[in-house]
Amino acid sequence: MRLVLLGPPGAGKGTQSVELCREYGVPHISTGDILREAVKSGLPLGIKAKAYMDKGDLVPDEIVTCIVVERLKDPDTKKGYILDGFPRTVKQAVDLDAELKKIGSKIDMVLYFETSVDVAIERLSGRRVCKTCGFNYHVKNIPPKKEGVCDKCGSVLFQRPDDKPETVRNRLKVYEDQTAPLIEYYTKSGLLKKVSGDLAVDELFKVLSKIFSDSKLA
Ligand code: AP5
Repeated sequence: MRLVLLGPPGAGKGTQSVELCREYGVPHISTGDILREAVKSGLPLGIKAKAYMDKGDLVPDEIVTCIVVERLKDPDTKKGYILDGFPRTVKQAVDLDAELKKIGSKIDMVLYFETSVDVAIERLSGRRVCKTCGFNYHVKNIPPKKEGVCDKCGSVLFQRPDDKPETVRNRLKVYEDQTAPLIEYYTKSGLLKKVSGDLAVDELFKVLSKIFSDSKLA
């Protein structure tokens, strides 16, 4: 199971990735999470990436592709993986295909979460993230039991700096300009499966599970 989850910010890629990885026992590779971790740790990569992330712009292709190519060398990716938020430009997709080809591998399926703009904005503006374990909540859709406190580890919840309205507007524009062309790229390669990102978390999970069993991926 070598999957790519594609869709706009707020489509629910991260939320579904966590559930799918738990169900199917493959690692979740989120470039957003890797970059945020590098920012938090003050690594040179994080210092470079922060300026782009704060504005809602994409981090340069060569940096991100290098991170993913290195991560895919880890032994836990042998039985598959879910790429969440990568590739995000046609260049990243072309380079990923070339790198995988070198090792006789390829992507099996790209799940495109088609999501309306209103839903994406509502989800991003209500997202709250645990400072310690990184679990994602939503103030209305997926609220914690106690406001502002993580159910899993008791830490404080915060709003991602790039979830502020002005940055969200730019992220959606960047998605349309630079990432949406991947829909055509993966349609042409016959890998794209479209699902509705507007569905509730459990409903979408069921749709995805059925796609995997129908296509014998799981
Ligand atoms: P990244 O972290 O990848 O952000 P994103 O793609 O903008 O994705 P999000 O995390 O905002 O949305 P999501 O679809 O995962 O939704 P989620 O499940 O969290 O990237 C951040 C930045 O890093 C980028 O802007 C860029 O600078 C850089 N970067 C990363 N990858 C890069 C790359 N490849 N190239 C260059 N730069 C890169 O859900 C959102 C909210 O909705 C949550 O509150 C959740 O609880 C709720 N929710 C989820 N699903 C549902 C549902 N079905 N119903 C109701 N609520 C739901």
